[in-house]
Amino acid sequence: MIKIKRVAVIGAGTMGRQISLQIARNGISVVVFDIDDSVLADAKAAQERIVAEWIASGVEAENARSAILGNLRYEADLSLATRDADLAIEAVPEQLELKRRVFKQIDGLAREGAIIASNSSSIRISALEDATERPEQVANLHFYLTVWDSPMVEIGGGSSTRDDVLDALSAFARAIGVLPLRVRGESTGFIFNRVWRAIKKEVMKVADSGIAAVEDIDRAWMIKFGREQPPPFAQMDRIGLDVIYDIEMRYAEESGDRDDLPRPILTEKVARGDLGVKTGRGFYNYPNPAYAAEDFLEPDASE
Ligand SMILES: NC(=O)c1ccc[n+]([C@@H]2O[C@H](COP(=O)([O-])OP(=O)(O)OC[C@H]3O[C@@H](n4cnc5c(N)ncnc54)[C@H](O)[C@@H]3O)[C@@H](O)[C@H]2O)c1
Repeated sequence: MIKIKRVAVIGAGTMGRQISLQIARNGISVVVFDIDDSVLADAKAAQERIVAEWIASGVEAENARSAILGNLRYEADLSLATRDADLAIEAVPEQLELKRRVFKQIDGLAREGAIIASNSSSIRISALEDATERPEQVANLHFYLTVWDSPMVEIGGGSSTRDDVLDALSAFARAIGVLPLRVRGESTGFIFNRVWRAIKKEVMKVADSGIAAVEDIDRAWMIKFGREQPPPFAQMDRIGLDVIYDIEMRYAEESGDRDDLPRPILTEKVARGDLGVKTGRGFYNYPNPAYAAEDFLEPDASE
């Protein structure tokens, strides 16, 4: 059985910092790398803030702080980040050529037995595997936002991924407190994202055609499914509208269907740089988005 004791996370943006924190929280050493030093510093500060929140709210004990943070190392040199890793998890932007380049780099630096996994939301591992010399040791390992509140990960192999590699990834997922979901056969969007894709495509279509306001679509959703999780447009703001755009483009390229192309309601916001929570504007304005207001679902709230 392959043992995963040391991990490298490549890319410290929205997902990389959460994945690495979840790993560290569960007692496994993890090195975080990003091409941008300021992102690395941001990631460290964000992780310290989250751990402080966990302690303040009682989900972690005070003495957990040093244990969790002690499992994290930040590295601005990719070779130092990857050389001892049993598993390298790539979490760079959703662009095929970039991911292929990063896979090739990791492959050249990581030790022979190491597994290389991609957190990609829509790129199948078979599109990345031949960028490496170890196609039998690569896999999709797809986490969800927020990693600790959506504790599941989809695991899928490519054309020649070995079973013991997939088994090791399942065991690793359990060890870090997330439920492994095995994707049998290749599937763009894996499991849940195929369902989510249908939802986001349809809500944007309804809003874009002028049938209903963004807020009213979200209101309908919240009344049916509850307020605990952000409704679809708010969820897209959290994910990042640039990330949503890239994913929609991948689906459209794959299907060749114009109906799958991102709608103007999305492309216009991305072109303006309104990318959701991370820029303070998206479908809602932050830090106090309308959907989170007490009276958002009151009978007199809609127009
Ligand atoms: N945002 C989500 O909700 C979400 C959920 C699941 C999966 N994903 C997937 O995770 C991946 C990352 O998404 P994200 O939202 O964290 O993106 P992000 O833009 O927040 O972070 C990406 C990071 O990668 C860094 N980077 C760029 N080029 C690099 C390189 N060559 N080497 C190392 N680092 C590099 C950037 O500086 C940035 O910090 C994507 O494949 C995305 O599809 C995203």
